Amino acid sequence: MKYILSLLLFFSSVTYANNVVGKYAPNKECQACHTQIYNEFNGSMHANSTPQKDPIHASVWNMHPKNLKFEQYSCGKCHTPAADNLDQMLRKGKKALPQASNATHQEGISCAYCHRIESIKLAKKSNINIMSETPKKYFGTLEDGMDSPYHGTIKTENKHIKNGNVCVGCHSHKKNKHGLNVCSTNLDNEMDGANCVSCHMPKVKGSVTAFKDTKEHAFHGFPGSHFNSDMLSQYVNISMLREIKSFKVNIDNQSSHAMLLHPLRLAMLKVQVTRAGKVTQFKDQYFKRVIGTDGKPAMPWAAKTEITNTMIKANEKRTIEYDFAIQKGDTVDVTLGWFLVNPKAVMKLNLTSEKVATKFNEFKKQSFNF
Ligand code: HEC
Ligand code: HEC
Ligand code: HEC
Ligand code: HEC
Ligand code: HEC
Repeated sequence: MKYILSLLLFFSSVTYANNVVGKYAPNKECQACHTQIYNEFNGSMHANSTPQKDPIHASVWNMHPKNLKFEQYSCGKCHTPAADNLDQMLRKGKKALPQASNATHQEGISCAYCHRIESIKLAKKSNINIMSETPKKYFGTLEDGMDSPYHGTIKTENKHIKNGNVCVGCHSHKKNKHGLNVCSTNLDNEMDGANCVSCHMPKVKGSVTAFKDTKEHAFHGFPGSHFNSDMLSQYVNISMLREIKSFKVNIDNQSSHAMLLHPLRLAMLKVQVTRAGKVTQFKDQYFKRVIGTDGKPAMPWAAKTEITNTMIKANEKRTIEYDFAIQKGDTVDVTLGWFLVNPKAVMKLNLTSEKVATKFNEFKKQSFNF
């Protein structure tokens, strides 16, 4: 009896283990050999894109009509693509967790998922990632890479991984059922080497693996609006022009997409003039893209049109004029940054107690002395 019991236990633990491993290897399996990359990745939005880990995402999903009707967690296509069983995922946002121990369910855009994207199919609503069907067939870019005892030879023939098209399966565009483009980095939905990698995965110091000392590796902390944004500040230049009765602040956005993309965001430029130790003038300027219905802001699933778009566009140089005469000795402090959630939407989304949603993120600060 004892023997049978332990056998039963053995078999049940085997099925359980298979469940846990799932279709894509869990991130933990990469940790020992790719420690630095793993640590960077853990602090990125790709590792934190699930409703359990991203309160902003969870709050929108909590209000989503599909969730209220107990339909499938359709966000999983991009937010938790490595989860085995999307319809078991979180019927009620972060309130109802599935088995908390099931590691793959809780992973966001996992290492194995991203490295198994073989090609991308362009489509109207949002693009589709075509995956390699062979487990551990990972695509990479190291031409002279060594074999790994864990995953064998890395395939380097896939040009999408090199040129950044690997990102446009999820990031190109997302249209809602009214055909409105909710969020987009790639307005023309083209595959021409979107080159997201050159800005969002810069080379940084440290080895690719624990096996061979290499000087640098591609940064896997994916700098963006939540984390590591200082690594992107070089792509937005701020300059000032003093005129007789006024001055101008120029913002030069050198990135290939609008400064912020998600319609929840609110960017802000703070300008302050200090004269003889006292703030004599200050002004806040806002940049946003608001979507809605009948001229009123609406949630992404309900919005039919763009209502306002003052967001600084791709490769745009925006000039803001201030009706104030600068004198010798004045200091002008310019701060550019953003709220991840427009303060006007914070209450509606029940996010008042989530600091990530309410705090002002400073992106770039510059002082000009006259
Ligand atoms: C086609 C891929 C795709 C699908 C499907 C998708 N998203 Fe996203 N989502 C993204 C991308 C890419 C971002 C990052 C955009 C950015 O930061 O500007 C994002 C960001 C977000 C954010 C901002 C999160 C934050 O922390 O600021 C929210 C909220 C969000 N998505 C909600 C949803 C909801 C709810 C669903 C399902 C109903 C969904 N998304 C489905 C691709 C997708
Ligand atoms: C037993 C150690 C080991 C484990 C575990 C491991 N790797 Fe590797 N990996 C290596 C070695 C060694 C290389 C080759 C590095 C080189 O040549 O500098 C490598 C290279 C890679 C590359 C190639 C990079 C390129 O651009 O060519 C990718 C991608 C990769 N691993 C992904 C993963 C993922 C994803 C996991 C976890 C699911 C993982 N590895 C787990 C040892 C490992
Ligand atoms: C499987 C879908 C998917 C793929 C592939 C993907 N992303 Fe993402 N990415 C997302 C989602 C979803 C988010 C938003 C997560 C959230 O806010 O909850 C995101 C967020 C981001 C962010 C914002 C980070 C922040 O701090 O706000 C950046 C930058 C980014 N991705 C860059 C990339 C790059 C570069 C690639 C290609 C190498 C890529 N992504 C590939 C789905 C994807
Ligand atoms: C020339 C550099 C550059 C290139 C190329 C680039 N980006 Fe960005 N990206 C930026 C800058 C600068 C920001 C704005 C500052 C920030 O959000 O940290 C940004 C922000 C983002 C964000 C956060 C937006 C938000 O609303 O939260 C995402 C997501 C993103 N980029 C994805 C991509 C993807 C995907 C590609 C390729 C299609 C790409 N980027 C190409 C520089 C670049
Ligand atoms: C959003 C997609 C994405 C995710 C998630 C991702 N990678 Fe990568 N990874 C890439 C891309 C793209 C490159 C190629 C960068 C380049 O060539 O500059 C790369 C490069 C690598 C390399 C080669 C290092 C180098 O310097 O080129 C290794 C090893 C690697 N990844 C392992 C991992 C591991 C381990 C994880 C999880 C901890 C992971 N990746 C998560 C997209 C991703």
